[in-house]
Amino acid sequence: VSHLFENYRRADVAFTHGRGVRLWDTAGREYLDFLAGIATSSLGHAHPRLVGAIAEQAGRYLHVSNLYRIPEQERAADRLVAASGGVLDRVFFCNSGTEANEAAIKLARKWGRRQGEDRFEIVAMHGGFHGRTLGALAATGTPAYHRGFEPLPGGFVHVLFDDLEAVRAAVTERTCAVLVEPVQGEGGVFPIGRQVLEGLAELCRERDLLLVLDEVQTAPGRTGSWFAFQHYGVVPDVVCCAKGLGGGVPVGAVLARDEVAAHLRPGEHGSTFGGNALASTAVETVLEVIEEEGLLERVRRSGERLAAGLLKLATSSGRIRAVRGLGLMCAIDLEVEAAVLVSRALHNGLVVGAVRPQTVRILPPLVLTEDEVDEGLARLTRALSEVG
Ligand SMILES: Cc1ncc(COP(=O)(O)O)c(C=O)c1O
Repeated sequence: VSHLFENYRRADVAFTHGRGVRLWDTAGREYLDFLAGIATSSLGHAHPRLVGAIAEQAGRYLHVSNLYRIPEQERAADRLVAASGGVLDRVFFCNSGTEANEAAIKLARKWGRRQGEDRFEIVAMHGGFHGRTLGALAATGTPAYHRGFEPLPGGFVHVLFDDLEAVRAAVTERTCAVLVEPVQGEGGVFPIGRQVLEGLAELCRERDLLLVLDEVQTAPGRTGSWFAFQHYGVVPDVVCCAKGLGGGVPVGAVLARDEVAAHLRPGEHGSTFGGNALASTAVETVLEVIEEEGLLERVRRSGERLAAGLLKLATSSGRIRAVRGLGLMCAIDLEVEAAVLVSRALHNGLVVGAVRPQTVRILPPLVLTEDEVDEGLARLTRALSEVG
């Protein structure tokens, strides 16, 4: 009998090791990992550069706390700021996506009160997902995640996703920020419209609001640019990331413009583990490898090939209703239950995930090659032919 909480619905498979996009289980069966630990194993498994860097760091020291300078953390921040194209200046490190959003919420509230007004309300989106701690949960516009955990912190208003006028109508004299995922992930992989995000940025400027982007799932690199906002003509004030940032080592980050970040003063927020030397080394290495191996370009190419293959499969199989995505963040809406396809895919050596009852998502490591795209599509085709 397992002594673990039963808060996850786990498949009865245990992996022993991986290499690149491949995983092997305890029975020696090989799989293509098209889920990457839910958008997290960005460099695939056992990338020699990441393995070497964290082993070397562990041999020097793991943790000293944020009471001291941590050069590894400073270098990781330099790289993240550079990846933002210099439009964001400061970084706060934490340990997960939900913590990044908590920090962003606290920052937005402090900022909203900077001139003595009482602006604390955040407009967020229906179908959004920002994490499981109470603040991030309250920001999450999907009631199913709230049930049983009320009362949640107040100060959040939810409006229709991808609807600029709905946000405009929800802004009041109490509003301090708009929080949105450029591509809704857990909601089912829905990229926001260009005009909507650009309109939101303009609205935020007009009404003196912070534009806070939850890029926990989209950055770094997943959509084919460092940050998803770079596909749009917008400059956000605050950006949260996590998941793929450490390539599997737990780490989250909040990036903000200088004058916004300045509103969290010493003692007002923190994290014991946040940005420790091990996590920071992982971040620095992941960002270096993305750049040196040209992974943004590779994501764009393999993402296009994957989307084209999925569209072809939709036509030939008759079991796919829609294909969506950006870069290596894809979803397919099915005529059948997603859980059934996920299970058949696993049986055929392909790891994918169900994100909605009839939606499967595909989030491979960024190192995915075009040959591996074809191999994954072949396995998915077999799996689809086996579902009723
Ligand atoms: C957009 C987004 N924000 C926040 C989170 C929460 O991140 P974590 O599970 O690391 O706390 C997730 C996780 O799926 C996410 O997709």
